[in-house]
Amino acid sequence: MDALVIRNPELLADALRGLSQPRKFMEPKWFYDTEGSALFERITDLPEYYPTRTETAILTAAADRLAAHVPEGAELVELGSGASVKTRLLLDRLDGLSAYVPVDISAAFLKETARRLSQSYPALPIRPVVADFTRPLRLEDAGHSRVGFFPGSTLGNLDPAGARALLQGVRDWPGVRAFIVGIDLIKDEETLVRAYDDSAGVTAAFNLNLLHRMNREIGADFDTDRFAHRAIWNAGKARIEMHLESLADQSVRIGPRDIRFAKGETIHTENSHKFSEESFSTQAEQSGWTLAEFLTDADRLFGVAVLEPS
Ligand SMILES: C[S@@+](CC[C@H](N)C(=O)[O-])C[C@H]1O[C@@H](n2cnc3c(N)ncnc32)[C@H](O)[C@@H]1O
Repeated sequence: MDALVIRNPELLADALRGLSQPRKFMEPKWFYDTEGSALFERITDLPEYYPTRTETAILTAAADRLAAHVPEGAELVELGSGASVKTRLLLDRLDGLSAYVPVDISAAFLKETARRLSQSYPALPIRPVVADFTRPLRLEDAGHSRVGFFPGSTLGNLDPAGARALLQGVRDWPGVRAFIVGIDLIKDEETLVRAYDDSAGVTAAFNLNLLHRMNREIGADFDTDRFAHRAIWNAGKARIEMHLESLADQSVRIGPRDIRFAKGETIHTENSHKFSEESFSTQAEQSGWTLAEFLTDADRLFGVAVLEPS
């Protein structure tokens, strides 16, 4: 028998914890290894995935207005920056930034993104930070102002308490002057479910990559053909839930343990909370912010909020 290779002890600890619960779950941050980040970029181009093109259109139309919230000499700090595609819409209008700080958990993808950005913006200092944004981000008090940027409705992946904690954490950054946040809005169930269960199966591949990743990094032996992607609208909690459903009674080796899955049982892999302008504004106010602007598209599919310290 081959020796068990554990390349990622933190992932192993989280998998053993989440998959031992009566309702099995994994934190969505584990989607994002290099394969997961690349799959997410493919999702953003899907016809069913309205959030990216809608948010991009809002940011394009309002770029000058948003740039006015960024003081001369400020540092722009982006959480969950991914490929930093939307960021370019702001960077193109901001000559006087002291630095751009993309923060992401997907280390290799972040490094490559930062390399490409520095080719496009040679005069701009780019300081990538590999970090988990659900933990406090330590930013030094360097005397300049800061503006946070958090597009992609990634805030919606946190539960309401986690979202408030993140909003409070950014409120406490030294020199913070504004926080620009993209949020997906509540809409009809069919549009929502299609956005997370596309006909080409890219979101299914993104979800299943979590099992491949556990096979690669913690020596798990998931048979990925025996799990299926599910996207469900939970109206009571205003969220799309992604699950991986076991298609059989089966047992999977995770590190030192065997974990049993009953047929039909799921691993809850992600929540994407949806907001109204009011529900988001209330959450922001409870976290020390005032809603200064709320920009949306004609169909009110997506919103870009500008928060200022209250
Ligand atoms: C939904 S994607 C959004 C990407 C990009 N901002 C956009 O708008 O298209 C989420 C991004 O956040 C990153 N991410 C997810 N969870 C994270 C965490 N806990 N800490 C840091 N980055 C995280 C992922 O690697 C990914 O780049």
